[in-house]
Amino acid sequence: MRDGDAIRTYKARRRVTTGQAEAIARLLPRFGAGVPFDRAAPLVLEIGSGMGEATAEMAAADPARDVLAVEVHTPGVGALLRRLEDAALTNVRVAEADGLDVLRATATASLDEVRVFFPDPWPKARHHKRRLATPAFADLAADRLRVGGRLHLATDWTSYAELARSVVDAHPLLAVLTTDRGARPVTRFERQGLAAGRRPHDLVAVRLRTAAG
Ligand SMILES: C[S@@+](CC[C@H](N)C(=O)[O-])C[C@H]1O[C@@H](n2cnc3c(N)ncnc32)[C@H](O)[C@@H]1O
Repeated sequence: MRDGDAIRTYKARRRVTTGQAEAIARLLPRFGAGVPFDRAAPLVLEIGSGMGEATAEMAAADPARDVLAVEVHTPGVGALLRRLEDAALTNVRVAEADGLDVLRATATASLDEVRVFFPDPWPKARHHKRRLATPAFADLAADRLRVGGRLHLATDWTSYAELARSVVDAHPLLAVLTTDRGARPVTRFERQGLAAGRRPHDLVAVRLRTAAG
């Protein structure tokens, strides 16, 4: 644990190959979170972009919005950076960081969407406290979303889907819009789950104007 009430929602770091380290050194100055976007556009924050396939695919299909992808694992950061270079995408920035820290540092009502696709499932009961979808996370996400902005969660663990639903249902500033996946492509982690017989559950909630809706 890092400090105070900060719970680590991710697993231990993985090794970085020379190629990934090289890609990061070369491409962060172009696509890193510190590089401003060259326009003012609605901003999507993705927490846990993994190896970045879905991130790049969705950004390419949605050029009117900018995306900040946050991932704690260095190999994933390197992989996404290379995808951005290959596809010459200009609407994505990448941060190697804890997405909760990034969300905390984001201004109130500044986000158009918060995405969390297949967060680490932490299936064992003693690890459930590490799951990202807590009431505190919902509070934070709701505050950072603009009115009408969306929180999109996807998981293929039924108990996690139930947890996410109960957290959203209990939140006075969030209302479930749909459980359709919409334009979300099949992610790498989702593909592994499908092969193992799991099925995805999506939950898209909208940020309400007031507690009364
Ligand atoms: C199961 S993987 C899913 C990756 C990808 N979204 C997909 O569907 O293929 C979960 C990812 O979330 C990342 N992660 C977990 N907690 C995080 C956090 N607090 N901030 C940023 N990334 C996080 C993990 O490192 C991991 O890459």
